[in-house]
Amino acid sequence: MNALSRRLWTLAPSWRYLNNGSFGACPRAVLKEQDRWRARLERQAVVFMDDELPGGLRRAAADIGGFVGARGEDVVFVDNATTGANAVLRSLPWRRGERCLLADTAYPAVRFAAERLAAERGFGVDYARVPARLGGPEEVVQAFERALRPRTRLVVVDHIAAPTALVFPVRQVARLAKAAGARLLVDGAHAPGQIPLDIPAVGADYYTGNLHKWLFAPKGSAILWARRSVQDGLVPVVTSNNAGQGFLEEFAWTGTRDPSPWLSAPAGLAFHRRLGAGRLMARNRALAWQGASLVAEKTGFSIPGPRSMYAAMVPVVLPRRWGSGRPGAERVHAALQKRKVEVPVFPVGGELYLRMSAQAYNDLDDFKALARVLLSLL
Ligand SMILES: Cc1ncc(COP(=O)(O)O)c(C=O)c1O
Repeated sequence: MNALSRRLWTLAPSWRYLNNGSFGACPRAVLKEQDRWRARLERQAVVFMDDELPGGLRRAAADIGGFVGARGEDVVFVDNATTGANAVLRSLPWRRGERCLLADTAYPAVRFAAERLAAERGFGVDYARVPARLGGPEEVVQAFERALRPRTRLVVVDHIAAPTALVFPVRQVARLAKAAGARLLVDGAHAPGQIPLDIPAVGADYYTGNLHKWLFAPKGSAILWARRSVQDGLVPVVTSNNAGQGFLEEFAWTGTRDPSPWLSAPAGLAFHRRLGAGRLMARNRALAWQGASLVAEKTGFSIPGPRSMYAAMVPVVLPRRWGSGRPGAERVHAALQKRKVEVPVFPVGGELYLRMSAQAYNDLDDFKALARVLLSLL
């Protein structure tokens, strides 16, 4: 599996970059398109903001929506998945004593947002304890089922969990939430462009997903989708000049900003399509597994979950003597960076997980180089 010419990206040649999961690399062609949008804005900003931007955003939403099975009218742009999740959390009319349920591996910013808001509004936060090492997706569903309470109002589930890289069975969790009378927000920060995605078919009420990780859009590009029946009252974190004018209008203007990451998201999608879309996702998934298996075989480290639950990110568990918690993770990460390898290390359940990503610009040589570095650290 050869990487596509790395010249299509501006990646530093001296690094082995195996962390598309944290921050994807934006292709040169997409950055150029972003420059073109910025140039258009700066020629006549009033005409651009008043006359060109609204239509441009709607066309971009229709294009991206089409890729994820959604109608453009149900999709708005936000800066990132963190902002999308915050908007949903803050928009719900929480009542005292209600509960919000998240997985214990939920993204820290989303957990903190729920906890802060809970303290302000008087609701409670519960965590589904998803086993760090598990045999199959049913264990995720069981963890959510056990943690549901009679007053659970909102369930938040990651589509792909950040530290463990597990693809969660979001459809089953959606059925569970619905049966319990709770709303469901899917945090799909890693999903668009990494796995085939039909958002309405998930059965959630809200879905937020980044375009700047796996869909090659510039940084600051994400979507928030909402089922039509819950769009009323769903408002951005920053109050809009268009307050009270409805879902699309409110999110279309949250103060003066550079809208080029959103307007050039279709160029990211076009790039993804040029590389094969479904074929690219399948290729990355196969490479991530092959690469992680190679690393596991050379080092003796283990892959903690079943192959069927991973997409283009796969972790291995590091030896216990390398440490645990944040300090351990930072130490190992720093040692890898010193050797010009970029791979994130996460503390999970008392162990350290090294999460490898495979994107179009990676090939097996990157994983071989990582294995050599790990062996030298052993
Ligand atoms: C599950 C999950 N949610 C949210 C985020 C935050 O993404 P962003 O920084 O684009 O808001 C991440 C980032 O990796 C993530 O993994």
